[in-house]
Amino acid sequence: MTARYGIFPVAGTGLIAAMCGLVLVGAAVRVAAGVHEGGVGACSYCHVMHAGGGVMTGNEDLLREESPSDVCLLCHAAAYGAVLGLDPLAPPPERGPGNFVFLLEDNINDGPDGLTNPLGGDAAGHNIVAPGHGLAGDGTYLNSPRGSYPAGSLGCTSCHDPHGNGNYRFLYGAGPVPPDQTFSNPAPTAVGLPFDGPPESSSHHVAYLSGVSRWCGNCHGSYLDRHNRWAGFKHTTDRSLSSRVIRRYNTYNGTADPSGGSTATAYLAQVPFEDLSLTIDSTSGPGSGSRIMCLTCHRAHATSGPRSGRWDFNVDTLGQDGVISGSYPLPNPYPDPDQDSLCRKCHSSMMGGGGGMGK
Ligand code: HEC
Ligand code: HEC
Ligand code: HEC
Ligand code: HEC
Ligand code: HEC
Ligand code: HEC
Repeated sequence: MTARYGIFPVAGTGLIAAMCGLVLVGAAVRVAAGVHEGGVGACSYCHVMHAGGGVMTGNEDLLREESPSDVCLLCHAAAYGAVLGLDPLAPPPERGPGNFVFLLEDNINDGPDGLTNPLGGDAAGHNIVAPGHGLAGDGTYLNSPRGSYPAGSLGCTSCHDPHGNGNYRFLYGAGPVPPDQTFSNPAPTAVGLPFDGPPESSSHHVAYLSGVSRWCGNCHGSYLDRHNRWAGFKHTTDRSLSSRVIRRYNTYNGTADPSGGSTATAYLAQVPFEDLSLTIDSTSGPGSGSRIMCLTCHRAHATSGPRSGRWDFNVDTLGQDGVISGSYPLPNPYPDPDQDSLCRKCHSSMMGGGGGMGK
């Protein structure tokens, strides 16, 4: 991880120094801890300050950058989570949410129609509006599917509170959300990986405790009842796992070893479930308190698979991922290019990868 983006450029230094009455020597100042926790000095990391010391409010919130998301990316593009790397073929280390760098891809379709029907970065996940970083709103959706959040307003502050709050990753809970929306469900509870520790693995992963699906439901209301009740891929999205699925998850150890696994080591970071007993280093598979949720199959930001999939929904075997499109192959948890779609972690009969299911 580089600290390059964690250091404020010269232009900002002068302003912060003036604000704090400090004389700074040198070209850059380090970002102090607690940026999001308030305090007078902290405001100026993101806002242009009034001469009297207060934040001048107004239509534009007097932000330092062109848009709220550009402000966040000043620090978070390549450090503190590194949510937007530089190269979609060499993404920063994964710690849970996927990466916005895949929005820059020209094709992520590795299905049989990958060449004739290319799927651009638009389809990689949540398109954030950050013109200063070359990112525009989604070209396909006007609003969040089965919801009403305007795609043209989607940015970091649609989901995260810039001023910090007690929630997991500062996610907004029930209440007002920019620009003029209202969430009705609380933020999920979870324990995230530290930014400075090792990346995700099946023994070091986000611990999802509860409430993910309901939170996504703030913008995708009716997926909660049923994934695509009407058309497309139909699936349950928020319920306890059946004993059949629990047994399958706990014994499955890949296509080459479909029943050689054991409960104590069954956890797969690519196919997580919710459970109040999880910790970031737990390796056990699911039990009767475990639930399926949106992030079992999707990541929150974007991935190099269609629809922000944790694995590529369009391929038959994971070895095909990236071959036709030339996009980044999502890491295969099993050392086997003939590994089937990870739907198989929970289901013994083959149902395809999910893409185009039921159409
Ligand atoms: C990490 C960046 C960041 C810091 C630090 C920060 N703000 Fe903000 N603030 C924002 C962003 C981004 C918006 C616009 C959010 C949107 O509309 O999407 C905003 C909006 C606001 C607004 C108008 C909307 C609202 O939320 O009421 C006020 C007032 C405000 N900030 C005050 C402050 C004050 C006072 C401080 C210091 C205690 C501060 N901010 C620190 C990023 C920040
Ligand atoms: C001036 C640099 C800076 C800016 C600008 C900034 N952040 Fe941060 N952010 C940090 C640092 C440093 C941390 C880690 C330490 C902390 O929590 O204060 C952090 C932590 C976070 C976390 C993780 C919180 C946790 O504890 O799990 C989220 C989420 C986040 N920022 C979102 C945002 C969003 C959204 C914006 C834009 C509105 C933004 N940040 C702007 C520096 C920044
Ligand atoms: C603040 C509102 C908001 C929240 C919260 C939200 N989404 Fe979205 N989502 C949108 C919008 C708007 C779109 C359509 C624009 C786009 O795809 O960028 C979208 C699109 C999607 C897509 C389709 C992406 C594509 O490229 O086709 C998926 C999948 C998705 N969301 C999953 C989720 C999941 C899972 C969660 C919870 C972790 C979630 N969303 C939370 C607003 C939201
Ligand atoms: C649609 C909602 C949504 C949008 C838009 C969004 N985030 Fe997130 N973000 C999340 C969720 C949910 C998580 C937690 C994901 C998880 O743990 O699986 C998260 C995680 C994070 C983290 C922790 C990263 C890590 O590696 O653990 C940071 C930092 C962050 N977001 C910053 C941002 C920034 C900066 C933007 C804009 C460029 C942004 N987010 C846009 C929902 C969103
Ligand atoms: C069992 C895995 C799974 C779960 C759980 C799941 N999804 Fe999906 N989702 C998919 C697949 C597969 C697709 C692609 C469907 C296609 O291409 O036809 C998809 C597509 C989407 C899309 C794009 C539009 C569409 O319908 O094709 C959105 C939005 C979405 N999911 C949101 C959600 C939300 C919100 C949740 C939780 C309430 C959720 N998903 C839970 C597998 C899942
Ligand atoms: C974490 C485990 C899990 C994963 C991963 C998963 N499913 Fe399921 N699936 C379930 C559960 C739970 C049910 C509800 C029925 C049951 O308990 O047997 C279900 C039901 C189904 C059904 C029956 C019809 C229905 O709507 O209830 C189909 C078809 C299906 N899944 C396909 C898929 C496909 C395709 C994927 C991959 C995109 C997938 N599943 C991934 C757990 C999972």
